[in-house]
Parts: sequence; structure tokens; C-alpha cells
Amino acid sequence: MPSEQGKDPASLAALDVRQALVLTIDGPTASGKGTIAQRVAQALGFYYLDSGALYRVTALAATRAGVNLDDAPAIAAIGAHLPVRFEPDGRVLLAGDDVSDAIRTEQAGQAASRVAVHPALRDALLALQRGFQHVPGLVADGRDMGTVVFPQAALKVFLTATPESRADRRYKQLIEKGISANLMALLQDLQQRDARDQSRAVAPLKPAQGAYVLDSTGLDVDQTVEQVLNRWAARR
Ligand code: DC
Repeated sequence: MPSEQGKDPASLAALDVRQALVLTIDGPTASGKGTIAQRVAQALGFYYLDSGALYRVTALAATRAGVNLDDAPAIAAIGAHLPVRFEPDGRVLLAGDDVSDAIRTEQAGQAASRVAVHPALRDALLALQRGFQHVPGLVADGRDMGTVVFPQAALKVFLTATPESRADRRYKQLIEKGISANLMALLQDLQQRDARDQSRAVAPLKPAQGAYVLDSTGLDVDQTVEQVLNRWAARR
């Protein structure tokens, strides 16, 4: 029997998962989770998981394959063998094809929210998500990171902000990228997505028990990152 420090790759992987610290950041659409989670991961020297990207890539793969987004078994089958790669430079590859921009459109977000209601897909993506735990630790952002995927996380953050300020941030991001946008349409879109994410039967968007609820309305990125890092340093 190999010891825990032995050379057996399976036992080393198990050790890696057990010793990796996890910090989860969940919250509604456009709450700034992605930016904050990446900055926190960088500050702590941790790995980073953008779980929303998995739902976005699944929806894109389904659309490209002509699969109906309401076809739960077919969608789950796609998620179970998702040929996705996260590159160190931030690019997301689907079967080797760079889909980084294609998955970031509002339409891709709506499609992701639609496939995310299927429990079979959520189950199919569990192992993939948990495989991102490596020492020294992982910062994972999404909707159910603290409630379902990493219930043992050392710190669970629920990051929120008013719908108006989230729509305003998204609007500015799009305009900065040279993409035309309509503030009212963005607000409606994110309220619709909030409603769907909060009301689905499985793993709905809600703060995990014991979560640190952080309202970032009126806070800038640096201030928000600082609040999370302070809370991390003060965790028991
Ligand atoms: O975080 P995001 O906007 O990239 O997520 C896109 C959609 O994916 C979101 O509307 C709901 C779904 N999602 C989910 O159900 N669970 C997660 N852990 C992450 C995202």
C-alpha cells in the first residue's frame, strides 16, 4: 500500500483534493464575481474556476450540434464529455476552438441559464468542477459553489449588488469593448436571468449557510477584493 506521501498518482490526487483550501464566490449575474474571484485567486496564489463558463460552453456546444436546449438527456451527455480547456492566458477552448468571445455574449448567457436548469447536466458537471481543487487552493465562482459543489469550502462569499448597478456595470463594460448596448434591455435581461437562476428546482441561486454576504453596490473592485481578503484572513 503506498503511503499518503507515496508515488501512487491516485493517492497523490486524493491528497491534493483534501488539502486544497476552497474559497467560493457565488452571486447573481453581473455582480462582478468573475473579476473579484480572479483578483482574489491571484492575491492568494490559488487556482481559479469560472463555473459559469462550463454552462456557457455546454450551451454553445449544444447549439453548434443542433441540440435543443430543453433536451435534458442530450444536454447532460454533452456536459459529461465536454472537451473544454481553460488556458493559462484566460482563453477558453472548445474542442481546440477558441470560444472565449463567443461564450461572453448576452445570448450565450441566456442559453447558459437555460441549460443550467437541467439537474442531469448539473450532476454531469460536478466531477469536472471538483477536479479543479489543487493545493494550495481554489477560488471558485458561480451560483452553487458554496451550496452544492464545494460545501466544505473554508470561506463562502455571496457577492451581490442592486440590479441597477449591475446593469450599469455591464453596460460600461460593453461600451468599453466597443459593443453597442441598451441599458434598459440589459436590466431586463439580468432580471430575467436572476429570476430563472433563483427559481429553478435544483441548486437555485441563494447564499450558502454561513455565507459572508457582500453587497458591492458603491464599492469599486479594489475595495471589494480587500473586503474578501480581510474576511479570508479572519476566517476561523
Ligand atoms: O456566471 P455566468 O453569468 O457566466 O453564468 C451563466 C449562467 O450559468 C447563469 O445564468 C446560470 C448558470 N450557472 C449556474 O447555474 N451555476 C453555476 N455555478 C454557474 C453558472
